[in-house]
Amino acid sequence: MIKFDIITIFPEIFKGFVSESLLAWARKKKIIKINLHNLRKWTTDKHKTVDDKPYGGGPGMVLKIGPLYRAVQSLSSKFQVKSLKLRRRVILFSPRGKKLTQAMAKKWAKYDQLILICGRYEGVDVGVADHIADEIISIGDYVLNGGEVAAMAVIESVSRMVPGFIAKKESAQKFDHPQYTRPEIFTLGKKNLKVPKILLSGNHKKIKEWRSKLTKSTDL
Ligand code: ADE
Repeated sequence: MIKFDIITIFPEIFKGFVSESLLAWARKKKIIKINLHNLRKWTTDKHKTVDDKPYGGGPGMVLKIGPLYRAVQSLSSKFQVKSLKLRRRVILFSPRGKKLTQAMAKKWAKYDQLILICGRYEGVDVGVADHIADEIISIGDYVLNGGEVAAMAVIESVSRMVPGFIAKKESAQKFDHPQYTRPEIFTLGKKNLKVPKILLSGNHKKIKEWRSKLTKSTDL
């Protein structure tokens, strides 16, 4: 079972996400485990301070290294006791990171623990990227408010690759050919949208060929 440990200052963002549909099912079946951690738990002052003004000045606040370091330490060591040979990745989200790919999702699905650090858009002390994280990951060339949405993308794409998550191996892979549903003809204004004859033929071999021709080749 793969365990996701999410470090965030907004754990509430994930509550609905992990409690619906396939992720909820996979958690119940113990295919995946998702733990939410509020970074404030690892602060040491009475105000539970997680961010600070950067040295050298500038607008905005930056996440401090201390609480993040203690969070990763504590989540790593707790798990170490149970399994010495465990495979773990500490992932920091940042728009400056490497682009998330299906190949990464496939690789990480074989790990025991992914610790996901959600930064905020103003930034994170560079020590976290340089000395604490194993990977710095972006989900695209755009700036989000923080790493939470990126962490969700990793959780979903990795979970889908964990054995048992998707019953039929095929459906985890080839889903990108055109799909049609009833009725056979749908009238859209002046247009009649028709289901291709081949899909009504019952000839499974021909249908398979037709679909594979139209399946975009990706690294799935
Ligand atoms: N944090 C802010 N923008 C991000 C992005 N595009 N990918 C990952 N983390 C981010």
